[in-house]
Amino acid sequence: MITKGKWAAIPGLVALAACAIFLSAYSGASSPEGAAPVQPINFPHPRHVQTLGMNCLYCHFAANKSPDPGLPAVGTYMGCHQVVHADSAEIKKLASYYYKERPVPWVRIHKVPEYVHFPHMRHVNAGVTCQDCHGQVQEMGRVYQASSLNMGWCLNCHIGNYKPQFKARYDCSTCHY
Ligand code: HEC
Ligand code: HEC
Ligand code: HEC
Ligand code: HEC
Repeated sequence: MITKGKWAAIPGLVALAACAIFLSAYSGASSPEGAAPVQPINFPHPRHVQTLGMNCLYCHFAANKSPDPGLPAVGTYMGCHQVVHADSAEIKKLASYYYKERPVPWVRIHKVPEYVHFPHMRHVNAGVTCQDCHGQVQEMGRVYQASSLNMGWCLNCHIGNYKPQFKARYDCSTCHY
């Protein structure tokens, strides 16, 4: 009887393990801290933000009004670069996407799993700066992920531990539904 009870648990455990594998394959994992993938075009944030004084929202135009901040379309870059630095090697790569009418295949860096709800605009409109979460992007020759993006990181700020002026709900359904 005792041995039978012990074996009876196994199908349940196998099913549970299968669910876990399915769930992680379906929903994807968070992107890793420190990730700095090589991009198809070497885009310099410091030159655009520090030297030219461009605002983050000029290019990531939806960060204050939508869950996703957005990346500029090729035509936006070419508006300037048909004239500025038009003969540099990186701008020639950009122009070739433009003339083929193809988007630049930027490699996505920051990503939370599908089962997590993350609205950019709520954060930006509450005064949380891009740098609070993404680090000093304006100084990064190549963008890397400065924060872990894990649940503990989110909660630490929502409970007011990161800066007392940032507080937000932290019941499970705030971020999971
Ligand atoms: C001139 C347009 C432009 C400006 C201005 C700009 N960015 Fe970007 N940003 C891009 C492009 C293009 C990429 C994709 C290539 C890359 O990762 O370098 C990008 C990528 C990023 C990423 C990584 C996206 C991912 O895949 O996770 C972050 C974070 C980011 N920018 C934040 C900022 C912040 C913060 C500022 C202001 C300090 C800023 N950007 C200003 C064009 C811009
Ligand atoms: C509270 C933290 C936080 C703040 C503030 C924040 N971000 Fe993000 N950002 C994230 C997280 C988390 C992700 C991944 C979101 C996802 O996977 O849906 C992300 C993703 C991105 C991406 C990649 C999205 C894509 O679709 O390629 C860009 C670009 C970006 N952020 C730019 C910005 C800019 C610019 C600002 C400031 C205007 C900003 N972020 C403010 C946490 C933040
Ligand atoms: C640096 C601080 C900070 C970090 C990190 C942070 N948040 Fe927030 N979050 C806030 C603030 C501040 C608000 C705005 C609260 C408000 O509007 O009243 C907010 C609001 C939200 C909301 C809307 C809540 C509501 O009441 O509807 C969601 C959802 C959310 N955050 C998810 C996340 C997730 C998921 C992460 C991690 C990937 C995260 N946040 C990381 C500070 C942060
Ligand atoms: C402020 C946002 C936020 C809140 C509130 C929150 N979570 Fe999460 N949760 C996340 C993020 C982001 C991830 C994905 C990153 C990770 O695995 O840490 C996650 C991942 C998870 C996972 C998967 C862990 C894994 O290792 O695969 C579980 C389970 C979970 N949360 C349960 C909960 C429960 C239960 C609550 C309420 C007590 C809760 N969460 C509240 C943001 C949140």
